[in-house]
Amino acid sequence: MKRRILIGGAWPYANYSLHVGHLAALLPGDVLARYFRQHGDEVLYVSGTDSHGTPITERAKKEGISPAEIAHKYHEEFVEAFGAVNFSYDCYTATFTDYHKQHVQAMLRRIYENGYMYEKQSEQDYCETCGKFLADREITGLCPVCGKPAKGDQCDSCLTSFDPSELKDKHCLTCGHATVQRPNHEIVFALSKFQDRLEEYYRANSPAWRTNAVNETRKYLEQGLPDRDATRSLDWGIEVPFPGYEDKRIYVWFEAVMGYLTAGRRAAEARGIDFDAFMHDDENLITYYVHGKDNIPFHTVIFPALIMALENGWQPPKRIVSSEYVKMGEDKMSKSKGNLVAIRDLAARFEADTIRFYFVTNNPERRDISYSEEDMIAAHNKFLCGAFGNFVNRNVSFLKKKFGGVVPSGTVDSAMIAETERMYREIGEKLEAGELRAAAELMLQYIQEANKYYDTQAPWTQVKQEDKTAFNNTTATCLYIIANMSNLLAPVLTQGCEKIRTMLELPETPTWSPIGVKDGLVLGECPILYTKIQ
Ligand code: MF3
Ligand code: ZN
Repeated sequence: MKRRILIGGAWPYANYSLHVGHLAALLPGDVLARYFRQHGDEVLYVSGTDSHGTPITERAKKEGISPAEIAHKYHEEFVEAFGAVNFSYDCYTATFTDYHKQHVQAMLRRIYENGYMYEKQSEQDYCETCGKFLADREITGLCPVCGKPAKGDQCDSCLTSFDPSELKDKHCLTCGHATVQRPNHEIVFALSKFQDRLEEYYRANSPAWRTNAVNETRKYLEQGLPDRDATRSLDWGIEVPFPGYEDKRIYVWFEAVMGYLTAGRRAAEARGIDFDAFMHDDENLITYYVHGKDNIPFHTVIFPALIMALENGWQPPKRIVSSEYVKMGEDKMSKSKGNLVAIRDLAARFEADTIRFYFVTNNPERRDISYSEEDMIAAHNKFLCGAFGNFVNRNVSFLKKKFGGVVPSGTVDSAMIAETERMYREIGEKLEAGELRAAAELMLQYIQEANKYYDTQAPWTQVKQEDKTAFNNTTATCLYIIANMSNLLAPVLTQGCEKIRTMLELPETPTWSPIGVKDGLVLGECPILYTKIQ
């Protein structure tokens, strides 16, 4: 039975180049997408550029260009960076597209009509000089306790915490003018109404989540869920589809997570799939959401609540693949430290397979990892060249040299067939569980077993014997293994596997069940799968 698989990769903000932190967090999505496609399931793997919100407007201000220009600039860069490491999105779009905007507005209206949004009236701080309502962090004032200058919700002088509304003598941080109170209204999402349903959802699904997702979500649920503003007084973002909201925009987090649905719909439409039916919450649909741990509550609390509020029977996030962080040696990676390694720069110097292999085998699944270029090179040399590439090369060049590349017919070793079948089963199970490291361990084990088989059989000795059967069987077995490597390793090692498939004249697209080499195959030039890095 063909399953329906939706994989949502987190939408990076269009305010900075993509770096290895993004890569480590998002790569599992691509590996899963490739695996499920090979398996024959219907996959929609989607993401896009998050182009709204203050991170983008702040960046635009700094660079002296418009938010739209910033968004487009980084969007193009992201498309290129993901392409350079062979991400296979079915749809990679951006939140600035009309398609996204229209569908987000429609969904917002629906949630409102379903009774889960309401209008809130309140007095808010307004700057008449700047002509806008001010957020808490755009205001300075005097501490309500000691009277010294303070900002936000804590006084640095007397260390008292207070509600930002209690600040005295408030001024606009941008222009310095005194603020005034003005009546304001926002649309509010009634998240509190979903407390019980979300607890139920959490109980049912979290056993399959990573610990960080389980803990973060529990913390949120235990605190009790407050209603949340769904609109903001801003001018960069998606217009609110209600009269009286012309000076406001939809709060970025609401529309960004809804991007999974707009991009999913777009990918489905392109393939003639009915997206509403696709998303129906039944046994045959598995939704995966892949992101870094700072994004967890938005995927396990807010987004599921929004899906519930849509009331159209769609599946809330089932599997949460939430990564820990990448560090630079001992240091936290940060823009201010300037120690980020951009995907673009990395991909200019290393092959996609080298990068993918390193970040899958060292994925920050359960704890932070320390990125090290030396380790990446060492892993490339040891495993990709030394073990995988070498196995292929030993076999093929021997056949080329001694037999002009003609593959003799022989019987494939039954133990190796059984082992290969086990690999399909177990690697598949690990991948579906979001355990990429364990899956990669098995892949490496398969490569090791292949080399061991070759060494024990010693075909270079067998070939000298009177009866060539042993040699023929060994060769048939090794070529069978090589063919199956090009399936089993393909979710991670896209380039190497493709070279094997061309050489062995296998169908272009890899699959997820044992394959053999066709009879009478004559091998062409042996491709160099990987070259050693000095
Ligand atoms: N842009 C946000 C960030 O980089 C993440 C958005 S994930 C999504 O932290 F779900 F909102 F798309
Ligand atoms: Zn002002």
